[in-house]
Amino acid sequence: MSGVYRGIDSSPEIVVRWARERWEIDGAYALRREVFCREQGLFEHDDLDAVDAHAQLLVAVCDARVVGTVRIHRRDAADCGTTWFGSRLAVSEAFRRHGRIGATLIRLAVSSAHALGCETFLAHVQAQNAPLFQRLHWRTLDVTMLFGLEHHRMQADLAHYPPCATPYLGFVVDQRRAA
Ligand SMILES: CC(C)(COP(=O)(O)OP(=O)(O)OC[C@H]1O[C@@H](n2cnc3c(N)ncnc32)[C@H](O)[C@@H]1OP(=O)(O)O)[C@@H](O)C(=O)NCCC(=O)NCCS
Repeated sequence: MSGVYRGIDSSPEIVVRWARERWEIDGAYALRREVFCREQGLFEHDDLDAVDAHAQLLVAVCDARVVGTVRIHRRDAADCGTTWFGSRLAVSEAFRRHGRIGATLIRLAVSSAHALGCETFLAHVQAQNAPLFQRLHWRTLDVTMLFGLEHHRMQADLAHYPPCATPYLGFVVDQRRAA
């Protein structure tokens, strides 16, 4: 027995939460390298940047493995304002469109920032993912080029993201909605 909670269909539970443990942080960085360097070729070896020094990482965990991640942050470490950003959203290829992992990462990202006083939540979203965000109550503010790719600068409608003050517990992914 692995000790991992399993639902009635015996699929392992997937939890989305703020990262705290070293293995969660290392797993998130490894997944980002896999997706943004190897798969998408946006960065050569590593996608880490200055934002990582002050950002809060979120992870989706399945069977003690990181299968999704995103980070939330203000503009820089000295910024105490009410505008927050989300970036580096990635779900492991084998888990995409699997059980709303990406949507749940977005939900905890915005809701946990909301609990910290966020009044405006923004993200640069790759154009092919704009429909996903629109379904989740985001709107496009403008369109711009980043890393050679078209991105939508989008804003979340906070009315759909009630504050979540327990981000280390996070949310269990509702896999009943999986295709
Ligand atoms: C974008 C990404 C994070 C989405 O994660 P995911 O776990 O596959 O998404 P979800 O399963 O939560 O999707 C939620 C719903 O939106 C749909 N959806 C997912 N991606 C979509 C897209 N690009 N366009 C339209 N709909 C989409 C899903 O089918 C699902 O529909 P349902 O509610 O009817 O079941 C994932 O595809 C990924 O990591 N892509 C590579 C990296 C990337 O593009 N990062 C984002 C940079 S902005």
